[in-house]
Amino acid sequence: MSGFDAELEGALADLAARRLAACRAGDPTGILMADHEWLRPALAELRARARDGVDASALERLVSAIWEVVDSHSRVEEELYFPAVDRLLAEAGRPNPMVMAMAAEHDALPDRRRQLLEALAAGRDPLPAIDAFSRALLVHFDNEEDLVFEDAREVLKGEEGRRLARAMAAFLGISERGGE
Ligand SMILES: [Fe+2]
Ligand SMILES: [Fe+2]
Repeated sequence: MSGFDAELEGALADLAARRLAACRAGDPTGILMADHEWLRPALAELRARARDGVDASALERLVSAIWEVVDSHSRVEEELYFPAVDRLLAEAGRPNPMVMAMAAEHDALPDRRRQLLEALAAGRDPLPAIDAFSRALLVHFDNEEDLVFEDAREVLKGEEGRRLARAMAAFLGISERGGE
């Protein structure tokens, strides 16, 4: 295994441990924040490596690891977190239309990833595509954190939060072994 792959495996193990800790704390928003906080530096790392001229196959492996996290993250938001938060906020008399609007922002992501993989496969400079991919994700994470997560934490205290955290852990395959 190359140093690059060992480092990536270590970073993914660290993410699994952070997800597990949030799950144990009964904190569904914390599970999602663990992903956001892992992805922000991972995207910066991807850009730095591309700028340093790392070969396309290593960049592809990093993009693929990043995409796996983005994809499972987006699916658990769409299938479990957003619907639960949307319902709980409505029940609490404070509906927030931004919750389900966040799911629509996911639609742009697969195209950004495809453009990035195409640039790598064609041997083009990947930096413009990396920047477009990163920008879409980073703006989206900021929107979720500013417009949804704060409200969500209010209605996810106690048993509702613990139940949702357990369901998300099962969906994501977060286990006591810390693996996925
Ligand atoms: Fe999202
Ligand atoms: Fe998110």
